[in-house]
Amino acid sequence: MRRKVIAGNWKMNCTPTEAKALCETLKPLVAGADADIVFCVPSIDITTVVEAVKGTDIKVGAENLYVKDSGAYTGEISADMIKDAGATYVIMGHSERREYFKETDADINLKVKKAIEKGLTPIMCCGESLEQREQGITLDWIRMQIKIGLQDVAADDVKKMVIAYEPIWAIGTGKTATTEQAQEVCKAIRDCIREVYDDATAEEVRIQYGGSVNAGNAKELFAQPDIDGGLVGGASLKADFGVIANA
Ligand code: 13P
Repeated sequence: MRRKVIAGNWKMNCTPTEAKALCETLKPLVAGADADIVFCVPSIDITTVVEAVKGTDIKVGAENLYVKDSGAYTGEISADMIKDAGATYVIMGHSERREYFKETDADINLKVKKAIEKGLTPIMCCGESLEQREQGITLDWIRMQIKIGLQDVAADDVKKMVIAYEPIWAIGTGKTATTEQAQEVCKAIRDCIREVYDDATAEEVRIQYGGSVNAGNAKELFAQPDIDGGLVGGASLKADFGVIANA
């Protein structure tokens, strides 16, 4: 039985001071949740948030990493830095990074491998645009993202990963995919993993849905057989995240 994983993606929100306050608000609200709870936060907030959630089961994640271990890469952060700061998860391949920072599936594959090498749990994002959905190529697109993103990643490592399906048209728009649409793609991702790897890997990898998850729709989404939790943007910055974590 896969344990649910509910992650907040804070994106570029919260100064360290605000991050500390948000942790104090959210801690009691997620305390009883029967799921892995992860706060993925801006890199400058990681140490503050790690400190703020000490003594709870909440895990902390970064929102990106750079694939080099150290050196002249101004502005980037390495897996070792993330780990030493106390985070254990890291998001990669978010559609905002693909769109604004031109990250490709090949870049994301390198990030997945670096995170695994360093013992961080990758949350690898995929998702189609509205245009792609209307063209009927959603599943082809997602399968391509998964296959390239996981190239040369061993089955045992995939088992420990999290994959987040986030239709781009549902992110920050208030327009959630229907439960059927979300389940259909999450199942297709699992089938793709089964095809590339094996049954055991497909059954163990955790697949989240993300895109306008809120206190009202989380329960139904998370009840789907192939949806193992959510990657939550806007609603992770407020008390609603407590409701989602308990859904
Ligand atoms: P929203 O929940 O704000 O739609 O964002 C989803 C997301 O991008 C999480 O990574």
